[in-house]
Amino acid sequence: MKVLLNVNHVEHEIDVEPRLTLLDALRDNMRLTGVHTGCEHGVCGACTVLIDGAPARACLIFAVQADGLAIGTIEGLAPAPGELSLIQDAFCETHGMQCGYCTPGMILTAHALLRENPSPSREKIVAAISGNICRCTGYGQIIEAIELAARRLAGSNAGDAA
Ligand code: FES
Ligand code: FES
Repeated sequence: MKVLLNVNHVEHEIDVEPRLTLLDALRDNMRLTGVHTGCEHGVCGACTVLIDGAPARACLIFAVQADGLAIGTIEGLAPAPGELSLIQDAFCETHGMQCGYCTPGMILTAHALLRENPSPSREKIVAAISGNICRCTGYGQIIEAIELAARRLAGSNAGDAA
């Protein structure tokens, strides 16, 4: 089937089997390997993407279901090649990543949270990332990264930098 996926503001028409997940379409058809494959049944959050701005699990959605929706992946967050978004930068600075496996999903989840609530409490941050598993258990630094990004966003008056 032909499907039109709008990924990181670029339209891609791809030919897929109806059973192909959005996760596999992004990774295998578009080579967007920042979308990580983990449990493949909706538990770990490694495959998190943004669909119309909200975090969603790409392993639980067929590519054909995403036809016409706006999909965001970690590859689309940086303002320019070789640069980092404000949140990516905060994760680097606070060591909010260890092996990096959960990191794209965590950052996209943080991105959606800060878009909706630029000054979240620690409890709100914990709740927002509660669906994303970090096998390295680096939750403390991940929360610190999101708090740092929130403070910087508040100071920069640059909502789009998230
Ligand atoms: S790979 Fe999708 S939730 Fe784990
Ligand atoms: S940094 Fe290794 S899984 Fe989170």
